[in-house]
This record gives sequence, structure tokens and C-alpha cells, in this order.
Amino acid sequence: MLLVGCDSKKQIDCNPDDFEEIGCPDVEIAKLSDLVEGVPVDFDYPVEGLECFLVKLGDAAEGGVGPNQDVVAFSYICTHMGCSLKGNYNHDHKLLGPCRCHFTTFSLRRNGGVILGQATQDLVRVELSIDGDNVIATGLSGVLYGEIDNRCCNDAQPAGNA
Ligand code: FES
Repeated sequence: MLLVGCDSKKQIDCNPDDFEEIGCPDVEIAKLSDLVEGVPVDFDYPVEGLECFLVKLGDAAEGGVGPNQDVVAFSYICTHMGCSLKGNYNHDHKLLGPCRCHFTTFSLRRNGGVILGQATQDLVRVELSIDGDNVIATGLSGVLYGEIDNRCCNDAQPAGNA
């Protein structure tokens, strides 16, 4: 588990001023050369306790990084009602889901888009950049379930509908 240098209690308190103070840090989360196709790498971002994962899909994906544009990262938090999707990666179809709560399934090749189920917003993406062999998380795109916005991320964009 990789921890970032932020005070997670501030985020839980949901004080917008604190969100702005926290910022979305640039955090090295993996080495490109260490990634194994189809094996998710778990990490917390942007603060401890917000579980995310990175995976090398093996097929080019929208927004993918790396030599084959196939490395993507997302939050594990379902955008429907906040259940964890951890452990629900389906490598055969490059999907996350079905969610154990209400069966929403997200396409990791298609920017976390909903392909089945109750959610109306895409999975929250972790924006990535590459620096040599380092894969770096640089921000979030989309709004985490239960938050009013992601003010910690200046470049955050509203998640699209399915
Ligand atoms: S919380 Fe995931 S589908 Fe409802």
C-alpha cells in the first residue's frame, strides 16, 4: 500500500477549504517494467483509505498510458452507492464488476464507462503520467461517491454518463 502525504481526516471532514489545501499530489505508484498484464496493483490516492488500482490491460484503452496505451487506473469505489469493487476485475473482458451491491459493471477500455447496472456515472479515473519507468498518479477525473466535488484536483472533470 502506498500512502500519500495528506491528512485523510481533512477529507473525511468534507471541508471544502481543506480540500483545496490537500491538493492532488503527484505520486509514483508503480514501475512500468514491473507491471504484469492482467494483475491489478492496488494503491491509495489521493489520501490514505481511498482505494484505487492500476492495471495493464494488454489492449489499448481510452486514456491509457505506456508504450501500448494500455495502462489505466481507477478508484475502486462504485459510483452508484459507494460499494467497493475491489477484487472484481475481469481481465478476460477488461471490466470492473459486476458490483456485489447492485451489479454495475464498468469498462476499463472505455474510460470506466458503465456498461451494465444501476450507476449513471463512469468510474472515477486516476490520471496518470509516465516519467521514464515510473507511473505517476497526478489527479482524479470524476467525482467520488459521497463527495460534492473533487476540489483537491484542479483539473477534475465531471464523469460522463453511460
Ligand atoms: S453500489 Fe455498485 S451497483 Fe450499487
